[in-house]
Amino acid sequence: MKNLIVYFSKSGNNKFLAEKLASALGAPVEVLYPKGFNMLFFLMNLNFGIKPIQRKINDFDRVILVGPVMMGRLIPPLKSFVNKYMSDFKQIVFVTCCGSGDEVKMEKFGHGHVFNQLQTLLGDKLEFCEALPVGLTLSPEQKPTSDAIMKVRLDEANFSGAIAQRFDSLVARLK
Ligand SMILES: Cc1cc2nc3c(=O)[nH]c(=O)nc-3n(C[C@H](O)[C@H](O)[C@H](O)COP(=O)(O)O)c2cc1C
Repeated sequence: MKNLIVYFSKSGNNKFLAEKLASALGAPVEVLYPKGFNMLFFLMNLNFGIKPIQRKINDFDRVILVGPVMMGRLIPPLKSFVNKYMSDFKQIVFVTCCGSGDEVKMEKFGHGHVFNQLQTLLGDKLEFCEALPVGLTLSPEQKPTSDAIMKVRLDEANFSGAIAQRFDSLVARLK
């Protein structure tokens, strides 16, 4: 199975995750460069698209799209990518390192809404979605307050325990 990893990351968590997946699967990585993405445009629902990626999508059996969830929505660079290359995808998997945990995935800002949005856009082309919530890096003594969650930056030191286990199951599923 030829995989291509494509990611967008604002503060580095999804970059870290995408690079980990790339080395676990021996797959190439592409970064999405949005045209004019910033928080204000995002909140105003403006989307100026993305720059073309280097590789040919239809050379790959599967694209693994990696990126954050913000405001409970599929963020513009990810949405632009899906729409732009829709006819080239064979199979697509979405993986997110997000703030919302499993228990709140269907609440207002939960990642479950983004999974549903992708299901609607991609239909049968969407193989599955997986979340690696940043709260999985916090120990039981550290309260998963929204402040603590927003501050988590994945690195080799905190990528252990529950988050590493979920990552390993994901890799096994993708192999
Ligand atoms: C402005 C902003 C809005 C966010 N909104 C959500 C949200 O609605 N749901 C969620 O699960 N996480 C949310 N998050 C948390 C991010 O998804 C999380 O911090 C993620 O790991 C950031 O990825 P990055 O470091 O690759 O940019 C938000 C983060 C920011 C900065």
